[in-house]
Amino acid sequence: MKPYIACLMLTSPDGSLHPSRWTKSPDGDRSDFSKVCDKVREGLECQAWMVGRVTMAEMAKGVPHAPESPYEVERPWHFANREAKSFGIAIDRSGAVHYKGPDLFGDHVVALLGADVPDIYLAELAADGVSYVVAESADFDVGQLLGVLNRELGIQRIVLEGGAATNGALLASGLVDELNFIIAPALEARSGTDSVVEFGTEGLAGKVELALLECQQLAHGAVNLRYAAIKPSV
Ligand SMILES: NC(=O)c1ccc[n+]([C@@H]2O[C@H](COP(=O)([O-])OP(=O)(O)OC[C@H]3O[C@@H](n4cnc5c(N)ncnc54)[C@H](OP(=O)(O)O)[C@@H]3O)[C@@H](O)[C@H]2O)c1
Repeated sequence: MKPYIACLMLTSPDGSLHPSRWTKSPDGDRSDFSKVCDKVREGLECQAWMVGRVTMAEMAKGVPHAPESPYEVERPWHFANREAKSFGIAIDRSGAVHYKGPDLFGDHVVALLGADVPDIYLAELAADGVSYVVAESADFDVGQLLGVLNRELGIQRIVLEGGAATNGALLASGLVDELNFIIAPALEARSGTDSVVEFGTEGLAGKVELALLECQQLAHGAVNLRYAAIKPSV
């Protein structure tokens, strides 16, 4: 069974992905908005957060450190810590992220990997104490990989936290159940900047529909626009 996926993004009314570029507000600053976001995250009661390869690389900050051979690796999955209370999931088809240890922010790391990641990369993850699931076929089916996490680790609810490309890809494939856009009182307004959801030149029209669930007024001038993501009606 696929875990329930709630996307949570801190953004500005103009949809900016980069709080460091925002205008100031008398209502609060970036750290206030991020605390507001933390509170909404808590309310979502998820056992795991999930991000794309680019975002995870920014947080993991590791460099390649392949172990010496010989090594033996497990496929299609290796779970270094099944008892963890919470997990951080990376969608990393090519195996490009390097870690400094088994956990990030106190959560156990699980990488979702493409079928052709080399054994030497899997050996590096295992040596770091990082868990992984390797896709069984060339088509990288994130839903199937998440089904494994549900079955093997009991993960039932995941908070999806970007970036734009990951949000777009998962919305297009129908894996996202709800969106929470925390809108802070700030603007970026640079031309050509990243927005919180992106799906190539094609966009998402015809691939998903949003239905408003609620609009919550939060602290520091922020609001949470909460939507159900549903399959298109035609
Ligand atoms: N404001 C906020 O709250 C917030 C939150 C998160 C991130 N960010 C910012 O967002 C920026 C990164 O965003 P981004 O859009 O460039 O990158 P991203 O979404 O973090 O990562 C995109 C990559 O993830 C992999 N991926 C994700 N979903 C996939 C799928 N369904 N199928 C196959 N591959 C998938 C692909 O990796 P491959 O290309 O290797 O296949 C893809 O290129 C960073 O600057 C970060 O700081 C901001």
